[in-house]
Amino acid sequence: MTEKKTIGAGIVSLGWMGRLHARAYRALGERFPEVAADIRLVSCCDVLEENRRQAVDVLGFERAVEDYHELINDPEVDVVDICAPNFLHHEIAMAAIEAGKPFWIEKPMGISAEQSADIARGAEAKGLITSVGFNYRHVPAVQYARQLIAEGRLGRITNARVWLIADYASDPKGPLTWRYEKGRAGAGVVLDLMGHGEDLVQYLLKDRITEVTALTDTFIDQRPKPLKAGIGHSGWVVSDELGPVENEDYCAIIARFSRGAVCTMESSRVSVGPRAEYIVEVYGTEGSIRWNFEDLNHIEVCLGRDNGAVQGYVKAMAAPDFPDFSRFQPGAGTSMGFDDMKVIEAAKFISGVLDQTQYGPSAADGWSAAEIDDAVVASASDHAWHQVRPVTGPTTYDK
Ligand SMILES: NC(=O)c1ccc[n+]([C@@H]2O[C@H](COP(=O)([O-])OP(=O)(O)OC[C@H]3O[C@@H](n4cnc5c(N)ncnc54)[C@H](O)[C@@H]3O)[C@@H](O)[C@H]2O)c1
Repeated sequence: MTEKKTIGAGIVSLGWMGRLHARAYRALGERFPEVAADIRLVSCCDVLEENRRQAVDVLGFERAVEDYHELINDPEVDVVDICAPNFLHHEIAMAAIEAGKPFWIEKPMGISAEQSADIARGAEAKGLITSVGFNYRHVPAVQYARQLIAEGRLGRITNARVWLIADYASDPKGPLTWRYEKGRAGAGVVLDLMGHGEDLVQYLLKDRITEVTALTDTFIDQRPKPLKAGIGHSGWVVSDELGPVENEDYCAIIARFSRGAVCTMESSRVSVGPRAEYIVEVYGTEGSIRWNFEDLNHIEVCLGRDNGAVQGYVKAMAAPDFPDFSRFQPGAGTSMGFDDMKVIEAAKFISGVLDQTQYGPSAADGWSAAEIDDAVVASASDHAWHQVRPVTGPTTYDK
């Protein structure tokens, strides 16, 4: 048996994502036994005392601290997970880079392309393996779709459609969390949801979005201020006092790829109806695919037009033929879930750290999405087409 290396993990912030990263590390050994690492949950950092207590008592961290510098400089922390609100990502990532520690950072990487460029360039200069939370890439059905596209089974790719329509902010009585403040979140739904879509479609096409035109809007412009923090979008207690929503609820984008394909993209956080309808469709001259996160274990595929009578989609259910599926479920049709994507993300990150090879979404990929976001925000402001600046460094969407 290969001897396993012990890797100490330090997770900054124990909200929704911090807890998920911790669970992903705990599941790694069982789901990916070939990854030669034992992950120790060494340290967790959160400003809330209750979260620090839970980190140790419930989640199995060895210690919990209030200041992320202490976590990053802890000699027993080998890798850093950055799961804090967006506005802290840049300073925490720069501290991890300074300490020479590989990091797994949640999306959006920075709150601007400038911040994301800084992080990506800093990590590359130090030769650090990185990971960005573009988890939808790892879904076995998405991986299978990518294979079909790469093998040319859809013919020449002509167009794509990306649709990330959620209801997490649809209740006007929902709390005015950091997500609605420009200073702490940056842009609104463009960074929060559309960043996932931009990465996903670039990853499926292995191609880069080069120009965009966009519009954005805010449909709920005031929300109640919170009295007590929750986790993610749940469990918050609000007051009667209202404060302004500073960033957009909705965006619509038309984009073009470097090899000529076109793409329409739409995202909302305030739709009443769809809960988390994250759909990607890719069309080629010989076929098409469709995937919807709400139906994570299925993919719709149409390959060719040779049987006119019944031409149309086959709805395929996740099965052991789909990459990584059988690590989670031993039989076809049994469902995987959201947490499982993060286990795959953890495996790519930790394998990368062991092999000094960038397998999963990199800081350069995070920067690439951030450049699209910046062009979208600029276009929404001046109503013109904007070129998307190219990035440098180890991108993986195109590999
Ligand atoms: N990959 C995905 O699909 C996905 C999903 C949700 C959130 N996210 C991203 O994850 C990040 C965190 O989002 P969340 O939903 O987990 O947020 P959350 O609100 O649930 O948790 C944020 C946590 O940060 C802590 N915190 C605040 N200030 C801190 C500080 N100075 N030092 C340490 N901790 C501090 C808070 O106490 C809280 O526990 C965001 O960047 C978000 O965009 C990604």
